[in-house]
Order: sequence, then structure tokens, then C-alpha cells
Amino acid sequence: MRTWKEIREDFPILKETVNNQPLVYLDNAATTQMPKQVIDCWVEHYTKYNGNVHRGIHTLAELSTAHMEAVRENVLGFLNAKDEGQIVFTSGATDSANLVAQSFLKQRLRPGDIVLTTELEHHANYVVWQQMCLECGAQFQVIPTIDGDLDMDAAEKMITENVKLLAVTAVSNVLGTIVDIQKLVKMAKRCGIPVFIDAAQALRHEAFDLSTLDCDFLGFSAHKMMGPTGVGCLFIRNKWLEEMKPYRYGGGMVDIVKEERTSFADVPARLEAGTPNYSGIIAFGAALDYLNEIGFERIYTREEELTAHAEQLLKDIPEVTVLGSPAHRAGVLSILVDGVHPYDLASFIDKFGAAVRTGSMCAQPIVRKYGAETVTRISPAFYNTNEELDKAAEILQNVIRLLKK
Ligand SMILES: Cc1ncc(COP(=O)(O)O)c(C=O)c1O
Repeated sequence: MRTWKEIREDFPILKETVNNQPLVYLDNAATTQMPKQVIDCWVEHYTKYNGNVHRGIHTLAELSTAHMEAVRENVLGFLNAKDEGQIVFTSGATDSANLVAQSFLKQRLRPGDIVLTTELEHHANYVVWQQMCLECGAQFQVIPTIDGDLDMDAAEKMITENVKLLAVTAVSNVLGTIVDIQKLVKMAKRCGIPVFIDAAQALRHEAFDLSTLDCDFLGFSAHKMMGPTGVGCLFIRNKWLEEMKPYRYGGGMVDIVKEERTSFADVPARLEAGTPNYSGIIAFGAALDYLNEIGFERIYTREEELTAHAEQLLKDIPEVTVLGSPAHRAGVLSILVDGVHPYDLASFIDKFGAAVRTGSMCAQPIVRKYGAETVTRISPAFYNTNEELDKAAEILQNVIRLLKK
């Protein structure tokens, strides 16, 4: 078994310096870094077998197509969903949610119906449904939180037959809350409600088993799982495949085209108009192989240890408040610092080589719940070390001292 030290060596960017300081990269909830195995796969594709997919019958086109389709199978295997549904390639988690809204929900939503989401959501799993409700005259409702966890009693009451979709994140990108999605899905299924899971923050920590988690849709982004940007996936359960309407039109998604009418291909092709980001998808396949080789159980334990260490370090700084106290937290911690604006904080921290995120985290409702408009977020990944976290805490303390003078 390779040590974490050896695994860290796979990430060339972690050897970089920023502002003449060794980089301490702690913004993994925004995007993760790519190991050389993934970069090499991408370079190899462009160097050796680039050809547009599902179009040509020349060798390069066929090789590209075979590699891309192998990744689709790989993703289904990763989700343990080979018999459960299909994977549509998208540009990311945001695109996956928008696809469900346009292709599935829009045709079903009537005035007075309800779409239910939660206070923990990223805007990608919030504004999408809110706007669709406005368009269709439906009601947009939000399950509240208590201390960073979803209020499950409120959820139970709000999940009724009038709800036409429940959209929920598996992990909060602000508080790190690991949501009990299994319980929510069971509640929704009792009322026959389709469920969309936003797994954007979850899948870098753990693998899902869609043969036991009965969600209908699940979306995520490759760039948060050591893969490239511009690639995402949407899992669609078998029973909805026929119902999915094409929502973008063009090449690759049709069956027969005549002047008077067009018929469309089956899903996934029906929902993948135009040339997909096939080189990115192929590189994402290498990222999945990479994560699987390390093992998700090992990754989960490692991130749990790093997160617990980071949380303790932060709590030991008197000026720091860690937002929320969810029962289970993945590798995401947001903080407020007494008397210091988050933007000043992050820009000074950057001067010392550390990368942390500042802003509303594209999740204004939950940030506002803590009386703030902006926060600072620290999000470790398995390639980080305790020493880096110690260094980041030291930088934080120095910057606070500097800014409070
Ligand atoms: C929980 C969550 N959902 C959705 C997204 C959107 O992902 P993307 O911008 O890759 O589409 C993010 C990105 O930070 C996220 O954290």
C-alpha cells in the first residue's frame, strides 16, 4: 500500500510556491488538484488518439469513442448502478441540475405544486428550482436547519404528496454537513416523490451505492474528484429514461431528421447534443481509477482525521468561530473571525502561500443564517498533511494579529 507521502508526490502543483512561500492548498471544496496520472492520460489522448466521438469510423474516432464510453461504464460501476440507470455527461453539477429542471421537471410541474430543497444548498441546487417554480407557478419550499443539520422533523412534515421533486445536497459546501440522504430518500419514496441528489461535495470523500440509495437523479462534477473542469455526470434511474425530453438540440442526439419532423435518439445521446468534452471525460476516467486505487474507505478516514485536526486548531484560536456543529462533518470548515473582514483575511493569508476560499460560497441562504454575507472556508483533501494544517493555523493567527493592530 502506498503511503500518503508517496501519494502526495503524484500532485505536481503541490510542489509550487506562491508569493515565494510553499503552497498550502486548502481550497479543495472549490476544486481539487490533479495527479500526474490524470494529466498524463489527458496528454496521451491529445498526443495519440484524438478524434471526435460518435461521428467518424476512422481509427482515432473509434478509439476516442471507446475510451469515452468505457468511462460511462466506469462511472456506473463506481456508483454500483450498472442495472439501475444511465449516465449522461454534462459540464458539471450545475449543468446536471439544470438538465433535470428543463428535461424532466418542467413538463410535470403545475401551478400549486411544490419543489422542495434545503437551506444547506449551493445556488446550483437552489436557484435552479426556485426559477423553475416561478416559471411554472409552483411553490418553492426550503427545509430549515438547526445547528448545521437539517431539521428532520420539519422535513417529515414538508414532504407531502404535493411535492414534485426533492432536491438535496449530500454534503454542504459551507458547513461540511453530511446529510442523512438515505433517510430523506426513504421519506420521499413513501410519498412517491422523485429525488435529485447534489453529490458535488460528497464524492471526493466517499463512494455511493445506488443499488441501495433509491434516488432518481444524482449530479456531480469531475473537477472536485481530481478530474478536469468542464466535465460532470448526471445519473438517471431507468424508470425516467423515456420521459426525459431533449432540451438542447444539435448533432449526435437525433434519430431521423426531415424537414417536417425530427425523431430523437435514446438517452444518453438524446441529452448530449453537440461534441462532448470527451478528452476531459477520458481524463476523468483516469481520476476515478486513481481514487479507486487508493480506496474510498481509506480516503474517508484520512479526510476525517485531517478535518478533526483542522477543527481543533481553529477552535483553539479565540477570535475564530467555526460555523455550525453538524453531527457528521466532511472536509469543509467555514469560519468567521471577530473584528476581521474575510476578504482582508484571505488576501493576507494568500501572501503567506496558503489558498483558502472567501466569499458567500455560492450558498447565500446558509451563510446569511449565521449573520454573515462572506465567510472564509478551509477544505482539506487526502493529499494535505497535519503539518500543512498547523502551518495554516499559524498563518491565520499571525494575520489576525496583524489585522487587529
Ligand atoms: C454542493 C455543490 N453543488 C454544486 C456545485 C456546483 O458545481 P459546478 O460549479 O462544478 O457545477 C458546487 C460547487 O462548488 C457545490 O459545492
